[in-house]
Amino acid sequence: MTPAERIAALRDLIRYHEERYYVYDAPEITDAEFDALMRELEALEAAHPELVDPSSPTQRVGGRPAEGFVTRRHLAPMLSLDNAYTVDELRAFDERVARALGVEPGSAIGYVAELKIDGLSIALTYEQGRLVRAVTRGDGVQGEDVTANARVIRALPLRLRTDAPPELIEIRGEVYLPLAAFAKMNAEREEAGEPPFANPRNAAAGAIRTLDSRLVARRGLRAFCYQIVVPPGATLPAERHARVLEQLAAWGCPVEPHWEFCADIAAVERYCEHWREHRRSLPFDTDGVVVKLDALALREKVGSTAKFPRWATAFKFPTEQAVTRLIRIDVNVGRTGAVTPFAVLEPVQLGGTTIQMATLHNEQEIARRDIREGDRVVIEKGGEIIPKVIGPVVSEQDTRGPAWRMPTHCPACGSQLVRPDDEVIWRCENVSCPARIRRSLLHFASRRAMNIEGLGEALVDQLVSSGLVRTCADLYRLTEEQLASLDRMGPVSAANLVREIDRSRSAELWRLLHGLGIRHVGEGGARALARAFGSMERLRRASVDELKAVPDVGDVVAESVRTFLDEPANAEVIDALAAAGVRMEDEHQDGRLHQPLAGKTFVLTGTLERMTREQASEAIVALGGKVSSSVSRRTSYVVVGAEPGSKLDKARALGVPLLDEAAFEALIMEHQARE
Ligand code: IVH
Repeated sequence: MTPAERIAALRDLIRYHEERYYVYDAPEITDAEFDALMRELEALEAAHPELVDPSSPTQRVGGRPAEGFVTRRHLAPMLSLDNAYTVDELRAFDERVARALGVEPGSAIGYVAELKIDGLSIALTYEQGRLVRAVTRGDGVQGEDVTANARVIRALPLRLRTDAPPELIEIRGEVYLPLAAFAKMNAEREEAGEPPFANPRNAAAGAIRTLDSRLVARRGLRAFCYQIVVPPGATLPAERHARVLEQLAAWGCPVEPHWEFCADIAAVERYCEHWREHRRSLPFDTDGVVVKLDALALREKVGSTAKFPRWATAFKFPTEQAVTRLIRIDVNVGRTGAVTPFAVLEPVQLGGTTIQMATLHNEQEIARRDIREGDRVVIEKGGEIIPKVIGPVVSEQDTRGPAWRMPTHCPACGSQLVRPDDEVIWRCENVSCPARIRRSLLHFASRRAMNIEGLGEALVDQLVSSGLVRTCADLYRLTEEQLASLDRMGPVSAANLVREIDRSRSAELWRLLHGLGIRHVGEGGARALARAFGSMERLRRASVDELKAVPDVGDVVAESVRTFLDEPANAEVIDALAAAGVRMEDEHQDGRLHQPLAGKTFVLTGTLERMTREQASEAIVALGGKVSSSVSRRTSYVVVGAEPGSKLDKARALGVPLLDEAAFEALIMEHQARE
């Protein structure tokens, strides 16, 4: 195989696996295997720059942050949809369509029903099958050019999978944030002290308008396509909408798979009813069903108004609300001392789950909505898992309790709560507050931090109240005997926990930095700091300016890190952790990629020009790879220098990937650069 052929084969293979992962949620290979394909392609492209192509999967993450967005006109206006809120309104829509077509209402007109994705619409231009432009809906006539950001949405193909691509085509669809990515994004925002997004749609809109496409890539945006627009005079590749959706899928575009052909409006009603009930089982937010006339020729007959087509409508799901009694308002003390109120409710069914708790945001919101203990309240499920209290339902004759007052003192430690003038959140500022300690320990032990299995809430409560543990460093002094003496702890679980705690001593640096719970430093920030400084020692010496120079670390984070490290109590904890043998540096300075070649076996053959064999072997081993003297099926790469020996023939016979010196150098340099 020539390099050009291998590059082409790799690009197809990578697109295939991207599609399995991002479009069908059904990966066939592991992340590590996928990364290996990507690295092989990157290395080959680095060695053959003339073969680099903007549609290559390596070219998704673009360049520097944009200054702003350019406005562009759409090929044809992007209309919006008329809404139907009831079954009667849905039937009225069918009657209007039937009248325009001169048939009886209720007859088999032929509709396609799709889920209405709660995201934002986007128009993607493909020229000769290549993605050249992506524009947001904007005001419908013109939107913002967000091409760089759309390119990092890996569900979207950079090249349509066809040998005969249309000259020019616009594919329209919806960009959205899956619920899991939304939860992650909000958790990160809260950790960073930024207000959370109210719903996935706002979060997706915020992400797509980020000026740095490298940040967008991390958000996990997805997309679904549902429309093809061709320039005036050109013909659509199908006569029915159902075929359009199939064509899009065949080109490798993500199409929401639950669409259905419905012969008549009765079938549409059944579809709506089904999804009204089952919408919560989907991994994304949907706010309704879009009903579209299937036959494209008939659409022309039915026509459009200036605002929306008459051949389609959006059946909106009712928001899921319930009424229940607000038993009382409690407050929760977080790790950073934030004291937030929440509602304890009489259990009620809502959207398929029993609800006993709901968010109340903050004191001001409670006052604004005049929510009082004992009230009957309306609760609503938004995109989030925990519902929120909308407000009370009170009638004139109800006798109500007094207005709710925020406690003046911390319910856990009794210290006076404080609230800076410009903030809405009250805080407990006592660093030894048992509630804060408990939360901090749980955070330290959590899966995305030190990952200490078995250290759950009940145990942490006991450890704190018994006085055995005050800081995370105390965990490393616990003995099996001490643990076994606690309630519900046998000698076996005690031994397991000690082993788990011991194992966490070698956790990567970013885990420790995340686990320390520095304000505004989430997992992403911790990784960035670990990557930049490589050791606690160097981080502790860093000035605010040096901290600010780290990619992804802004002013707020830099100040917060410095303040945290300067606090003597924190310095003491870090010293105690170090004394307990907790790892304080990354050999390769990057928690995630510090052994990127782990599991890879290399064989060297021939003479390398720019390095000795020893140097090449050292570089491989330093990155976690192995060097072997003979080629087998298990060999990952054969590095081929000048005048190679029989190993090259064997590698060719077995189909082992080959790297020339330049490609090998590129591979090594890329990993070293990430250290
Ligand atoms: S078709 C002229 N299909 O809903 C018809 N729209 O409320 C154009 N939307 O602006 C839209 N899922 O952003 C269509 N399966 C779907 C959709 C969908 C979500 C959005 C779209 C549109 C808005 C109208």
